[in-house]
Amino acid sequence: MKIGITGATGQLGRLVVEKLQQRVASDKIVALVRSPQKAKTFGLQTREFDYNKPSLLAASLKGIDSLLLISANQVGLRKAQHENVINAAKQANIKWIVYTSLLHADTAHMSLATEHIQTEQMLADSGIPYTILRNGWYTENYSASVPSSIQAGSFYGCADEGKISSATREDYAEAAAAVLTTEGHLGKVYELSGDDHYTLSDLAAEVSKQIGKEIPYTNLSEEGFAAALIALEVPEEYAKIIANMDVGAAKDDLYDPGHTLSELIGRPTTPLSVVIKRELT
Ligand SMILES: NC(=O)c1ccc[n+]([C@@H]2O[C@H](COP(=O)([O-])OP(=O)(O)OC[C@H]3O[C@@H](n4cnc5c(N)ncnc54)[C@H](OP(=O)(O)O)[C@@H]3O)[C@@H](O)[C@H]2O)c1
Repeated sequence: MKIGITGATGQLGRLVVEKLQQRVASDKIVALVRSPQKAKTFGLQTREFDYNKPSLLAASLKGIDSLLLISANQVGLRKAQHENVINAAKQANIKWIVYTSLLHADTAHMSLATEHIQTEQMLADSGIPYTILRNGWYTENYSASVPSSIQAGSFYGCADEGKISSATREDYAEAAAAVLTTEGHLGKVYELSGDDHYTLSDLAAEVSKQIGKEIPYTNLSEEGFAAALIALEVPEEYAKIIANMDVGAAKDDLYDPGHTLSELIGRPTTPLSVVIKRELT
């Protein structure tokens, strides 16, 4: 039983590889990567796999039984890129595709959900057995902005008092590895989220507590937040996407009270306070 992982050199993919190596022999894992030189230290079979080169994909999938399709990171191009992978998977007789989607992709308000839902539909139409991992937010999305927020004297966003139940990339990676190496997941759609939830005010309060200095959360309008990001030299297109994600967060798109993620990994998800502490040390 060979498992292929796309995006294996990405931040999530690297962790999935690591977690899979703890569960199965390395010769059962194939890293499918855009830049093979980035995977040299993996100690695994590595094959070139660029979503934008459809004619090369099926050959790279030869002999692979299960495929983890980690969603691509170029917003707007992802439907076509994922379609290329799914078509190649059909040609290569892949037996099972596990896809990393977005929490509540079918009901989420944020524009990011569109390509995930399109991909889920393409999988359903493909005839290939599949499992959907609807990953919630990475806690790292917020912890990465802790130093700059401390420097600015405030957290900024437009998520209002929306509840966010995030988890770490490591938590999601462990879930992907668990699903790929155990039975009973065919046809399942898993909503994966952290055990605890917080608002951006709570996040600011946790940082304030840990550094012993008040760093408030300032809630802006969607346009105001996008403009603030542009002023920080975030490209306009991305600034708008980030602000739009926060609008979804304000509507609880990123909140799920289920404990499916911790059930899959057999331990509690990593708390926000731990991730912030790591960022600060
Ligand atoms: N849940 C969340 O909070 C959240 C946040 C951000 C993103 N995401 C989604 O989750 C995915 C994984 O997250 P991440 O943090 O691991 O993202 P990441 O570090 O940006 O990794 C994305 C991976 O996709 C690969 N990739 C991009 N374009 C490709 C192409 N044309 N052909 C083949 N591979 C391609 C990249 O290859 P290289 O290594 O060669 O660059 C990289 O390995 C993202 O791509 C995005 O869809 C989720």
